[in-house]
Amino acid sequence: MHTIKGIAGWSDPAFYETALDALTANIAVLDGSGEVLAVNDAWVQFAELNDLRIEDYGVGANYLEFCDSLGTEEGATVAAGLRGLLSGAPGPFRFEYVMPLNASPIWAKMTAVRLGFLHKPYLVVAHEDVSIQRRAEIGLREATAKLLHAEDDERRRIARELHDSTAQHIAGAKLMLRRLASPDPAVASMVVGEVENLLSSALDEIRSFTYLIHPPALEHLGLAAAIRQFVSGFSRRANLAIRVEVADDFPRLSHAIEIALYRVAQEALGNVLRHSGSQQAVVGLRLAGDMVLLTVRDFGSGLPPGRENAPGVGLEGMRLRLEFLNGHLTLIDAEPGLMVEAWVPFIAAADA
Ligand SMILES: Nc1ncnc2c1ncn2[C@@H]1O[C@H](COP(=O)(O)OP(=O)(O)O)[C@@H](O)[C@H]1O
Ligand SMILES: [Mg+2]
Repeated sequence: MHTIKGIAGWSDPAFYETALDALTANIAVLDGSGEVLAVNDAWVQFAELNDLRIEDYGVGANYLEFCDSLGTEEGATVAAGLRGLLSGAPGPFRFEYVMPLNASPIWAKMTAVRLGFLHKPYLVVAHEDVSIQRRAEIGLREATAKLLHAEDDERRRIARELHDSTAQHIAGAKLMLRRLASPDPAVASMVVGEVENLLSSALDEIRSFTYLIHPPALEHLGLAAAIRQFVSGFSRRANLAIRVEVADDFPRLSHAIEIALYRVAQEALGNVLRHSGSQQAVVGLRLAGDMVLLTVRDFGSGLPPGRENAPGVGLEGMRLRLEFLNGHLTLIDAEPGLMVEAWVPFIAAADA
């Protein structure tokens, strides 16, 4: 506490009662034996809200005995902490635990301090509900784990392709080269042609992987140009007609948003190729109010029934990336085909 001296009414009990009632933490005042002398309004409301049928909200009961009677490790820790305060340990005693309530468990943060008045010790025990923070932390941790897992899958996939396909092309080319030793010119020209084919395949694959791993255009040219560049290569490789609808003066966005939307576009187009059966697609990128909207639409089969609620790694990865940036993914049945909408709050590039 930090005060100027001599607040009028400081010694009036009404002063303390009002102050304790003004706090949002659930507060109990205990005497030296652990008996609950008083609880504040927040405590009473908490008990009523959660339908805790405790006689007189616990006033008159012994808090230490209550903790002992729980027979849990947490109860024992709290009782020991409070007894420690009473026997002179420096406070505050802090403890966080999960309170199993009927509705859903809450994360409670306890802070207890000792007061000494008239040579008698008292304890003030405050409980705060920190569930919102803890749930958010857990949600973030789970989302991060999922995203890391998805990235891991992607790396494994790339490694497998490099091993099974690209490396085979190069190994084949090496074998062919040995036959160049033959004096027959017909064999030599066949070998040259074959080696050229194998090396071009390997090169093509390495190019698509480097695009996949690190889109070089993204940092230099920005999202709009990088998407155009990716689409031009992809549509050629995949033999799809893809239209890109993006304004020439589309602004640079924060790096995190550009990466996320670029990945969404790649994954969504990959899905068009692999799953939709569509020969064409349209990629749109625009500002919509204070949001950025990326759309990828095809004219194929649409999601198989039931897919909306059970997304695979690709769709789940898109959703997670967007949610990290406070955005969201919407899948729309476009009849025919699928419309993937990626929404993110607009944030301009730091140096724009
Ligand atoms: N454009 C699309 N057209 C039709 N079905 C799609 C499309 N995109 C996704 N799907 C369906 O949704 C499923 C999940 O997609 P995704 O999460 O990217 O995983 P994956 O591509 O690895 O199967 C696909 O297996 C497919 O059945
Ligand atoms: Mg996919």
